[in-house]
Parts: sequence; structure tokens; C-alpha cells
Amino acid sequence: MLHLVSMKEWPPQLIEEVLDLADAVKREPARFATAMAGQTLLMIFEKPSLRTRVSFETGVTQMGGHAIYYDMSTSPLGAGKENIADTARVISRYVNIVMARLFKHEVIVELARHATIPVINALTDHAHPTQILADLQTIREKKGRLKGVKVAYCGDGRNNVTHSLLIGCSKLGLDIRVACPDGTDYSPAPDVIRSALGFAKKAGSQVLVTHDATEAARDADVVYTDSWMSYHVAHEKLEERVRVFTPYQVTAALMALAAPDAIFMNCLPALRGFEQTAEVMDGPQSVVFDEAENRLHAHKAILLRLLGDLKK
Ligand code: CP
Ligand code: NVA
Repeated sequence: MLHLVSMKEWPPQLIEEVLDLADAVKREPARFATAMAGQTLLMIFEKPSLRTRVSFETGVTQMGGHAIYYDMSTSPLGAGKENIADTARVISRYVNIVMARLFKHEVIVELARHATIPVINALTDHAHPTQILADLQTIREKKGRLKGVKVAYCGDGRNNVTHSLLIGCSKLGLDIRVACPDGTDYSPAPDVIRSALGFAKKAGSQVLVTHDATEAARDADVVYTDSWMSYHVAHEKLEERVRVFTPYQVTAALMALAAPDAIFMNCLPALRGFEQTAEVMDGPQSVVFDEAENRLHAHKAILLRLLGDLKK
């Protein structure tokens, strides 16, 4: 059973296959208008969402299927009345595929272990693979290639998006440089760095973690940032995090160090004046809304590939 729990388990050819499918779905959506006829996606949410929720639900509708939004706080699972294994077994009897946005990564791993339907990680504290698939689609669209593209990520390193970017880029041969503050609260998890270094060795690309934003941004083709206050971060941390992350803010001066045709990306939601200035976010190099659009196409491709695998 093929799941999308993290990109670590996906071979590079499978990622490329899904990116090609995402391009096809984007080019000719009508070809896929009945691809999910009679099929149901369950969407379990423990955290907020705009893009992930709306794009998955719309994607399923556009392919003739049905999506159920399920708020975890109103579930027996959320109320502590039922465990994840039993939840997995029950939903496997009703729906064809499930996606979940959760706090703990271990919970999605557990869900996949007990489900007999494909499981999609729609974000955990540790990983955000659906985002990075859409981002790779966007980078390939804008740059015409993936291999050798230099990606600079500036900001929170101990972050689901950063982790998945490290894995996705290193697998497909993009150079990835992460600029983040020192310390375990702010730097990528050591096991993710180790995995990325291993994948990069195979793909012939580079992985760098630095505490200097200018080192990451110099000559980069893509400058990427994400929220300093991820959904799982307590509001009390705001002041401290603004202080530690401000040296990593993406400004026009930082963008000027990147390649002249560099693009600016942010998975969104974004706060102008925090992880990037308004000038960068709304400037000519910003592709953040094209990036957000590609969530729709990439999610359709993920659903098709995971459901298609079952038919084989
Ligand atoms: N980028 C992203 O996952 O956005 P949402 O939190 O709005 O789903
Ligand atoms: N790192 C962010 C991504 C939001 C899509 C978070 O977890 O909130």
C-alpha cells in the first residue's frame, strides 16, 4: 500500500511521476473529471488550514468524488474516547483514502500502519510533503528544470516545511541551503539532515545548514521562507522568536544577493514584516500565489497516484 507519510519513503522516480501527473492535471483538468467518481476522501484536521483543506476538497469535487471534512476536536479520537488504530480500521471500511493534518508525526505513522487505505500526511509538526510536491512543481515550471537549481531557505529550521524541503530537494538533485539560528529549537532535526545528505550524495547535489542568511541566499535561484509562528508554536513564544529570526528575514537586500532571476516562495500563510518584508512578498520576484495554486494540481496528482496504485 502506497502512502504519503513523508517523502523519505518515496523514490525519486515516484516523485517525478507525480510531478508529471500534476502538470498533466493542470494542463487538461477535464481529462480527469470523473477520475474519482464514486470515491471518498476523508480529511481529518487537528490544526487550521486554508490552502490544504480547500484545495484537496475542490480537487476531489473536480474529479467527481466526494470529500468529508472531519474536525478532530469533535471526534472520539480527539476526545480521547477512541485510539488511532481503531479509528484507522473503522475509516478503512467507509472511505477510499484519508488525509490528516496533525500535531504529532507518530500519529500519522500509526494511522498508516493500521489503515487498509492510502494515507496522506497533510502536515504534521515534522513534515509537510504535499506542500513540497507542489513547490517542486512550481520550481520546475518557473526554472524549467530541477537538477542543479539552488534553493535557499531562511528562517525556522526546526520546521515541517524545512524538513520536507531538505528531503525533496536532496532527492531530486536541487542544492538546498538552510539558514537558521543555532540551537535545537531552530535547526533542522539531525536525522533529517543525515537523510538529506545521503540522498544528495546519490543525486549529486549539495546540502548546507548555515547560520548566515547571506551565505544561503548568494546566487540562489529560489529564496524560500515560512512562518516564524507555525501552528504548533505557542503564542507566548512570539517575542523570543521575532528576536531570533529577524536576522533571517527575507528582505529586498537579501533578494539582491540571489540570482537576478531568483524567485521568492512562501508556502503561506505569511505575515508581511515578519518572515519577509511586504516589498518582497508583493514584489515582482514573488510567486507565492502560483505556488498556492499548484497545491490544487499537485494534490489531484497525489490522489490519483495513490488510488491508481490500488487498482494495479
Ligand atoms: N501551506 C499550507 O499548508 O497552508 P494551509 O495551512 O492554509 O493549509
Ligand atoms: N510551518 C507552518 C506551515 C504552514 C503551512 C506550520 O506548521 O504552521
